Amino acid sequence: MTNETTKDLVDVSSHEGPVETPSAQPPALPDDKTAVATEPAVERDGVIQTQNMDIYYGSFKAVHDVNLNFQFNEISALIGPSGCGKSTVLRSLNRMNDLIPTARTEGVVTYHGENIYAPGVDPVAVRRRIGMVFQKPNPFPKSIYQNIIWGAKINGFKGSKAEADDLVENALQQAAIWDEVKDKLQESGLSLSGGQQQRLCIARAIATQPDVVLMDEPCSALDPIATLRIEELMLELKQNYSIIIVTHNMQQAARVSDKTAFFNIELSNEGQRTGELVEFTPTDQLFTAPKEKATEDYITGRFG
Ligand SMILES: Nc1ncnc2c1ncn2[C@@H]1O[C@H](COP(=O)(O)OP(=O)(O)O)[C@@H](O)[C@H]1O
Ligand SMILES: [Mg+2]
Repeated sequence: MTNETTKDLVDVSSHEGPVETPSAQPPALPDDKTAVATEPAVERDGVIQTQNMDIYYGSFKAVHDVNLNFQFNEISALIGPSGCGKSTVLRSLNRMNDLIPTARTEGVVTYHGENIYAPGVDPVAVRRRIGMVFQKPNPFPKSIYQNIIWGAKINGFKGSKAEADDLVENALQQAAIWDEVKDKLQESGLSLSGGQQQRLCIARAIATQPDVVLMDEPCSALDPIATLRIEELMLELKQNYSIIIVTHNMQQAARVSDKTAFFNIELSNEGQRTGELVEFTPTDQLFTAPKEKATEDYITGRFG
């Protein structure tokens, strides 16, 4: 990778020099030609990687020792029982947990090889490059046009009216909502249906030019048709982004994701309920031949 991708994460005032980042080249394959072909011999460096990530709320450890590697051009799903830490993990990937005063992330989270929790990294810049879409669509009470241009402006956009128009159209096109709103760009974002509002929020996230989009149960407030539309959109977007989605809907994970991370709740000696990553496996394998018994119990409904 080049510093081009990540230099804007660092607050220039406290930047102390170029950040050491691993090469974007995958490591050389081992010579051993007998390696089993179904398992990748090496794992590529991901867009986002977590290493030994623990997340606390005050003294409560909500998730323990999470190691994940999210790839570009893939949809990754996070599944598991309620309270296992899916949202907590997702929010730690773009420092959204910083907004919760008691929350604390330990371990390392890298974005293009750079630790987003390192001193000097600006969390606002992190959130621009790693966008987020929430469970409940949350457009601003402003026009459709203003909802999009806001995202661009916080990214420093100072273009002409024509350039702004292009940018708005491009984001709405990518979010597959342009045709539905192009004749009413000055109407309130809140006048749209729930499914349209969620696609507007996806367009707003895209307008800051991220390459990762985090989505926390983005369809759970939507009807089945609007859900299908968002799922189709995710499949289109993955050509240009890495998408990480929390879902409580296993069918949704099975339909859209390339890889699925299953989290479970472990009861500690002190009686604390801490979330742990059980496995992160290609989705078709996770739902047909999971590596772990706990995963099998969960996906077959024998759980808890
Ligand atoms: N803001 C918070 N303050 C304190 N504890 C929290 C907070 N958010 C979540 N938790 C706790 O962290 C654990 C994981 O929660 P969460 O990430 O919301 O799980 P999930 O999204 O899998 O349902 C739960 O025990 C939950 O009660
Ligand atoms: Mg959640």
